[in-house]
Amino acid sequence: MQDLKGLILSGGTGTRLRPITHTSAKQLVPVANKPVLFYGIEAMATAGIDDVGIIIAPETGEEIKAAAGDGSRFGIRLTYILQDAPLGLAHAVLTAEPFLGDSPFVMYLGDNLLQGGIEDLVAAFRASEPEALILLTPVPDPEQYGVAELSDGAVVRLIEKPSDPKTDLALVGVYMFTPVVHHAARAIRPSGRGELEITDAIQHLVDQGHRVEPHIVRGWWKDTGRLEDMLAANRLVLDTIVGSVDGELIDSRVDGRVVVEPGARLERSAVRGPAIIGAGARLTDCYIGPYTAIGEGCSIENAEVEHSILLAGSVVCDLDGRMESSLLGRNVRIGRDHRQPRAYRFMVGDNSEIGIL
Ligand code: TTP
Repeated sequence: MQDLKGLILSGGTGTRLRPITHTSAKQLVPVANKPVLFYGIEAMATAGIDDVGIIIAPETGEEIKAAAGDGSRFGIRLTYILQDAPLGLAHAVLTAEPFLGDSPFVMYLGDNLLQGGIEDLVAAFRASEPEALILLTPVPDPEQYGVAELSDGAVVRLIEKPSDPKTDLALVGVYMFTPVVHHAARAIRPSGRGELEITDAIQHLVDQGHRVEPHIVRGWWKDTGRLEDMLAANRLVLDTIVGSVDGELIDSRVDGRVVVEPGARLERSAVRGPAIIGAGARLTDCYIGPYTAIGEGCSIENAEVEHSILLAGSVVCDLDGRMESSLLGRNVRIGRDHRQPRAYRFMVGDNSEIGIL
């Protein structure tokens, strides 16, 4: 088989993660202090795929380029491919056709995380050489996903969000294709939501008699498109970290697996792992609970934070109650206001969500 290329989809609009995505790409939201996108890039590198295209959107493309660069830090070559509008996953494939040429390729959704990487499925694809190989995982709520019906070890039908699911096998955001997928993507029409759906392209392959093989994922898979999923991904990744303290602890304690990055300073504080405290963060008189990722340069004082992700430069101080299950963007400030009259005072962007005690 010809050398495999990689295609990572990092365009889209990310409406479900607003307001974070008003100013930033969702693929750059950190999970355990590393952008989601980097997990996908690293999975490609580990599987020996060193020529990878990244689909970017006009709004967030420059930010993605600045973060991932030319790929040399991952030991691979990255090529950026601009998709003018988010017209669907199959549209992204067509947009990437000049880059992909007649190579078989792995397609990876840039906001997805797959424990265990993609080596297994690359090996399965190379061994049996089907026209397409799709990843599936059993889910408790198949009506929320694209699902696949199987017969005799082959995929026979794909259905987007079935109201009466006949299977619990959901499509995971990683796919392997031969170039025949380009014909399929050209043959299909936009769906009800106006997108060229990858499920329709794969169904077209099946209908044309091409072999589409299933590969059941072992280990977990997470699509980080919504807040709850992002927090769950953060939890799953933090569960695998190895503790190390490089910052400074003054009258402070860390319990369990905690990473304190260089330049971070903890004073009269306690951190219960698994948790990660970013470089240069300042924690004073506070408690950081399990499954929390504190970004670079954050400052937390006289507050308790648990099961949350704080992006770089955020400040939290003097909270009466514990903050939990929260995602703070960059340079957010949350704190007690001592001015009179006593009141809640907010300056909050569109589509924000605030829960108060
Ligand atoms: P989705 O999460 O399905 O779409 P989205 O990013 O538009 O998000 P939302 O539904 O919240 O508005 O996309 C999965 C991945 O594929 C994600 O990394 C974005 C990327 N993508 C593209 O690159 N091009 C596209 O046309 C679409 C629809 C998604």
